[in-house]
Amino acid sequence: MTVDINAANKTLAGLRPFPVAITTVDGGFANGLMSLSAGSASIIPEAPRAMCGLTKYNMTHDMVLNSGVFVMHMLSAGDDEVDASMEILMTLGGSSGRDGDKIGKLRTKTGETGAPILLDAHSYVECRVVGSLDVQESTIFVGDVVASEVFSQAQRIKIGEAWGKLPEDWIKQYDANHVPQLQSAKDHRFGQKV
Ligand SMILES: Cc1cc2nc3c(=O)[nH]c(=O)nc-3n(C[C@H](O)[C@H](O)[C@H](O)COP(=O)(O)O)c2cc1C
Repeated sequence: MTVDINAANKTLAGLRPFPVAITTVDGGFANGLMSLSAGSASIIPEAPRAMCGLTKYNMTHDMVLNSGVFVMHMLSAGDDEVDASMEILMTLGGSSGRDGDKIGKLRTKTGETGAPILLDAHSYVECRVVGSLDVQESTIFVGDVVASEVFSQAQRIKIGEAWGKLPEDWIKQYDANHVPQLQSAKDHRFGQKV
Protein backbone atom coordinates (compact mmCIF):
# COMPACT_ATOMS: atom_id res chain seq x y z
CA MET A 1 0.00 0.00 0.00
CA THR A 2 1.24 3.47 -0.85
CA VAL A 3 1.32 5.77 2.17
CA ASP A 4 -0.48 9.11 1.89
CA ILE A 5 2.43 11.19 3.21
CA ASN A 6 0.35 14.38 3.46
CA ALA A 7 -2.33 12.64 5.50
CA ALA A 8 0.29 11.08 7.78
CA ASN A 9 2.09 14.39 8.35
CA LYS A 10 -1.21 16.22 8.97
CA THR A 11 -2.20 13.57 11.50
CA LEU A 12 1.14 13.75 13.30
CA ALA A 13 1.75 17.53 13.16
CA GLY A 14 1.69 19.50 16.40
CA LEU A 15 1.14 16.51 18.68
CA ARG A 16 3.74 17.87 21.08
CA PRO A 17 3.24 21.66 21.20
CA PHE A 18 5.71 22.41 24.01
CA PRO A 19 9.38 22.94 23.15
CA VAL A 20 11.60 21.61 25.94
CA ALA A 21 15.22 22.31 26.78
CA ILE A 22 17.17 19.12 27.45
CA THR A 23 20.47 19.38 29.31
CA THR A 24 23.01 16.75 30.31
CA VAL A 25 26.62 16.30 31.41
CA ASP A 26 29.18 13.76 30.30
CA GLY A 27 32.85 13.54 31.28
CA GLY A 28 32.63 16.94 32.96
CA PHE A 29 31.23 18.73 29.87
CA ALA A 30 27.69 20.14 30.11
CA ASN A 31 25.54 20.57 27.03
CA GLY A 32 21.97 20.61 25.83
CA LEU A 33 19.52 21.12 23.01
CA MET A 34 15.92 22.01 22.24
CA SER A 35 13.44 19.23 21.56
CA LEU A 36 9.84 18.93 20.40
CA SER A 37 9.68 15.20 20.97
CA ALA A 38 9.42 15.04 24.75
CA GLY A 39 6.67 13.74 26.96
CA SER A 40 5.53 12.00 30.10
CA ALA A 41 6.19 8.25 30.30
CA SER A 42 4.57 6.84 33.42
CA ILE A 43 1.02 6.10 34.54
CA ILE A 44 2.13 5.86 38.19
CA PRO A 45 1.72 9.35 39.72
CA GLU A 46 4.14 8.67 42.59
CA ALA A 47 6.83 7.35 40.21
CA PRO A 48 6.99 9.87 37.34
CA ARG A 49 9.00 9.22 34.20
CA ALA A 50 9.88 11.39 31.22
CA MET A 51 10.82 10.51 27.67
CA CYS A 52 12.54 12.31 24.83
CA GLY A 53 13.69 11.40 21.34
CA LEU A 54 17.12 12.69 20.38
CA THR A 55 18.62 12.61 16.90
CA LYS A 56 21.96 10.82 16.62
CA TYR A 57 23.40 13.75 14.67
CA ASN A 58 23.21 15.90 17.82
CA MET A 59 25.99 15.92 20.41
CA THR A 60 23.48 15.78 23.27
CA HIS A 61 22.32 12.38 21.97
CA ASP A 62 25.75 10.78 22.46
CA MET A 63 26.17 12.44 25.85
CA VAL A 64 22.83 11.14 27.22
CA LEU A 65 23.57 7.70 25.80
CA ASN A 66 26.91 7.70 27.62
CA SER A 67 26.02 9.40 30.92
CA GLY A 68 22.45 8.13 31.36
CA VAL A 69 21.22 11.45 32.74
CA PHE A 70 19.14 14.30 31.35
CA VAL A 71 17.12 17.25 32.58
CA MET A 72 13.94 18.24 30.73
CA HIS A 73 12.90 21.88 31.17
CA MET A 74 9.69 23.61 30.20
CA LEU A 75 9.98 27.28 29.16
CA SER A 76 7.80 30.14 30.39
CA ALA A 77 5.41 32.29 28.35
CA GLY A 78 5.10 34.85 31.21
CA ASP A 79 5.53 38.52 30.22
CA ASP A 80 8.61 38.99 32.42
CA GLU A 81 10.06 35.57 31.58
CA VAL A 82 9.54 35.05 27.87
CA ASP A 83 12.76 36.85 26.86
CA ALA A 84 14.78 34.43 28.99
CA SER A 85 12.85 31.53 27.42
CA MET A 86 13.77 32.76 23.94
CA GLU A 87 17.41 33.12 25.01
CA ILE A 88 17.43 29.46 26.14
CA LEU A 89 15.72 28.29 22.94
CA MET A 90 18.09 30.22 20.66
CA THR A 91 21.22 29.25 22.62
CA LEU A 92 20.54 25.51 22.87
CA GLY A 93 18.71 25.04 19.55
CA GLY A 94 20.82 27.32 17.37
CA SER A 95 24.22 25.62 17.42
CA SER A 96 25.96 22.44 18.54
CA GLY A 97 28.02 21.91 21.66
CA ARG A 98 30.62 20.59 19.22
CA ASP A 99 31.12 24.21 18.13
CA GLY A 100 31.57 25.55 21.66
CA ASP A 101 30.13 25.76 25.15
CA LYS A 102 26.43 26.74 25.22
CA ILE A 103 25.55 26.05 28.85
CA GLY A 104 28.06 28.64 30.13
CA LYS A 105 25.94 31.34 28.47
CA LEU A 106 22.91 30.46 30.62
CA ARG A 107 22.13 30.78 34.36
CA THR A 108 22.43 27.32 35.91
CA LYS A 109 22.89 25.31 39.06
CA THR A 110 24.12 21.73 39.29
CA GLY A 111 21.46 19.08 39.72
CA GLU A 112 21.80 15.92 41.78
CA THR A 113 22.90 13.91 38.73
CA GLY A 114 25.56 16.54 37.97
CA ALA A 115 23.61 17.81 34.96
CA PRO A 116 22.89 21.55 34.73
CA ILE A 117 19.52 22.94 35.80
CA LEU A 118 18.46 26.05 33.84
CA LEU A 119 17.41 28.63 36.44
CA ASP A 120 15.45 30.70 33.91
CA ALA A 121 13.29 27.75 32.88
CA HIS A 122 9.62 27.47 33.87
CA SER A 123 10.12 24.07 35.54
CA TYR A 124 12.11 20.87 35.15
CA VAL A 125 12.34 17.15 35.75
CA GLU A 126 15.80 15.66 36.25
CA CYS A 127 16.06 12.05 35.11
CA ARG A 128 18.18 8.92 35.17
CA VAL A 129 17.72 6.80 32.05
CA VAL A 130 16.00 3.45 32.70
CA GLY A 131 15.69 2.37 29.10
CA SER A 132 16.32 3.47 25.55
CA LEU A 133 15.17 2.41 22.11
CA ASP A 134 17.44 2.74 19.08
CA VAL A 135 15.34 3.71 16.06
CA GLN A 136 17.98 4.17 13.36
CA GLU A 137 18.34 7.97 13.11
CA SER A 138 17.47 8.64 16.73
CA THR A 139 17.16 7.13 20.20
CA ILE A 140 14.14 7.37 22.48
CA PHE A 141 15.22 7.73 26.10
CA VAL A 142 12.98 7.05 29.11
CA GLY A 143 14.11 8.23 32.53
CA ASP A 144 13.02 8.02 36.16
CA VAL A 145 12.47 11.48 37.63
CA VAL A 146 14.95 11.94 40.50
CA ALA A 147 14.37 15.68 41.14
CA SER A 148 11.92 18.36 40.02
CA GLU A 149 11.03 22.01 40.69
CA VAL A 150 8.55 24.56 39.36
CA PHE A 151 10.08 28.06 39.23
CA SER A 152 7.25 29.99 37.53
CA GLN A 153 3.50 30.36 37.95
CA ALA A 154 3.08 31.54 34.32
CA GLN A 155 1.89 29.46 31.37
CA ARG A 156 4.40 27.29 29.52
CA ILE A 157 5.34 28.56 26.08
CA LYS A 158 4.08 26.72 23.00
CA ILE A 159 6.13 26.35 19.85
CA GLY A 160 3.79 28.54 17.74
CA GLU A 161 4.24 31.51 20.08
CA ALA A 162 7.99 30.92 20.42
CA TRP A 163 8.51 30.56 16.68
CA GLY A 164 6.74 33.90 16.10
CA LYS A 165 9.28 35.64 18.33
CA LEU A 166 12.41 34.26 16.67
CA PRO A 167 14.54 36.72 14.67
CA GLU A 168 14.70 36.06 10.93
CA ASP A 169 18.50 35.62 10.87
CA TRP A 170 18.28 33.00 13.64
CA ILE A 171 15.66 31.05 11.64
CA LYS A 172 17.91 31.23 8.55
CA GLN A 173 20.81 29.79 10.55
CA TYR A 174 18.55 27.10 12.05
CA ASP A 175 17.32 26.10 8.58
CA ALA A 176 20.93 25.89 7.35
CA ASN A 177 21.88 23.70 10.34
CA HIS A 178 18.88 21.49 9.68
CA VAL A 179 20.09 20.43 6.19
CA PRO A 180 22.99 18.17 7.33
CA GLN A 181 20.87 16.92 10.26
CA LEU A 182 18.14 15.77 7.90
CA GLN A 183 20.68 14.18 5.56
CA SER A 184 22.25 12.33 8.48
CA ALA A 185 18.80 11.04 9.49
CA LYS A 186 18.14 9.78 5.97
CA ASP A 187 21.57 8.12 5.87
CA HIS A 188 20.82 6.31 9.15
CA ARG A 189 17.31 5.30 8.03
CA PHE A 190 17.99 4.20 4.49
CA GLY A 191 21.68 3.35 4.74
CA GLN A 192 22.64 5.49 1.79
CA LYS A 193 22.51 9.08 0.51
CA VAL A 194 19.05 9.83 -0.85
C1 LIG B 1 12.04 24.02 18.33
C2 LIG B 1 13.13 22.99 18.12
C3 LIG B 1 12.81 21.64 18.24
C4 LIG B 1 13.80 20.65 18.08
N1 LIG B 1 13.46 19.34 18.27
C5 LIG B 1 14.46 18.39 18.28
C6 LIG B 1 14.16 17.04 18.64
O1 LIG B 1 13.02 16.68 18.93
N2 LIG B 1 15.18 16.14 18.66
C7 LIG B 1 16.48 16.51 18.35
O2 LIG B 1 17.39 15.67 18.41
N3 LIG B 1 16.78 17.79 17.99
C8 LIG B 1 15.80 18.74 17.96
N4 LIG B 1 16.10 20.05 17.63
C9 LIG B 1 17.44 20.37 17.13
C10 LIG B 1 18.52 20.59 18.20
O3 LIG B 1 18.03 21.37 19.28
C11 LIG B 1 19.73 21.30 17.56
O4 LIG B 1 20.18 20.54 16.45
C12 LIG B 1 20.88 21.56 18.52
O5 LIG B 1 21.70 22.55 17.95
C13 LIG B 1 21.73 20.31 18.82
O6 LIG B 1 22.77 20.67 19.70
P1 LIG B 1 23.90 19.63 20.20
O7 LIG B 1 24.66 19.15 18.97
O8 LIG B 1 24.76 20.46 21.12
O9 LIG B 1 23.22 18.51 20.89
C14 LIG B 1 15.13 21.05 17.77
C15 LIG B 1 15.44 22.41 17.64
C16 LIG B 1 14.47 23.38 17.82
C17 LIG B 1 14.84 24.83 17.70
